[in-house]
Amino acid sequence: MSIKQVTVKAPATSANLGPGFDVFGIALEQPNDKVTLTAINNDDGVKIQVSGMGAKTISLTPEKNTAGRVAEIMVRDFKLKEGLQIHVEKGIFPGKGLGSSAASAAAVAVGINAMFDLGLSNKQLIEFAAKGEVASAGSEHADNVSAAVCGNFVLIRSCNPLEIINLECPKDMELAVAMPKIITPPNKTEKARAVVPKLVSLEKHVYNLGKAAAMAVGFAIGDVDVIGQSMLDDIVEPSRAALVPGYDSVRENALNAGALGVTISGAGPSMIAVVNRKTCDAAKVAAAMREGFLSSGYDANVFATRPGKGSYVVEMKQ
Ligand code: HSE
Repeated sequence: MSIKQVTVKAPATSANLGPGFDVFGIALEQPNDKVTLTAINNDDGVKIQVSGMGAKTISLTPEKNTAGRVAEIMVRDFKLKEGLQIHVEKGIFPGKGLGSSAASAAAVAVGINAMFDLGLSNKQLIEFAAKGEVASAGSEHADNVSAAVCGNFVLIRSCNPLEIINLECPKDMELAVAMPKIITPPNKTEKARAVVPKLVSLEKHVYNLGKAAAMAVGFAIGDVDVIGQSMLDDIVEPSRAALVPGYDSVRENALNAGALGVTISGAGPSMIAVVNRKTCDAAKVAAAMREGFLSSGYDANVFATRPGKGSYVVEMKQ
């Protein structure tokens, strides 16, 4: 082992995209986490430092930290001879539904793979990164980590065994994101998963299936209009809308500003809209979404971005 330090960038991601609960995910060009792994003495195990967005809210105990959990599992499974010092520079605000924990987990998996030349496939990297999600969500789910590893659009065809389909996004696709300034509890995702119905009617299943199938076709044929217009969910979103103050106003404002579709990003509370840049300005949609949150008494950070690539090594030092 001659590599002593690896730095990886990992993208924010948005899961579900409306009808695809735990199945659809997309990587965003911005924001990113930057994670640096440094080899240390094996006896020191895994040590974590966090700086940047919301750093104070993140546990530094490896098993309670998505990055730390992935590192400990990989050190154990591959019988690595070194310990690891992990520095996570958060560009993705935690607890907002933008795959912050998944990005750190994916970055560590990609970083360890590069540092120790393990030759892991994307699928194997996702399986390790998904184990990190337990630290924040209480259960493994692969939508965010798959998008954070592979980039662009991912579809989880099966969770166990893991089977994913990874597709490019249309070049005209832009995304408007609004992150309300709400303090979310550390177990926010677990709570947002607890409100999701365990049983659904055939009618709702048929509704969602139609939208999900159309969205997948939209990505396959590269049609942003089909993707955005299919961003509808009659199962999970109605149960979570009450957890997002201003949900109705944000939705209405985004559509009135020209968005093709709008939904809760992951487990929320952020909302994300799909825009065709040929016909609509994503920055204007984002501003309209902020007005929606403001009308409910909450300010929001908003931005426009595009689909992005997966995690990648930016630097390696010997
Ligand atoms: N699919 C997951 C959920 C994503 O909606 O609970 C959470 O980040």
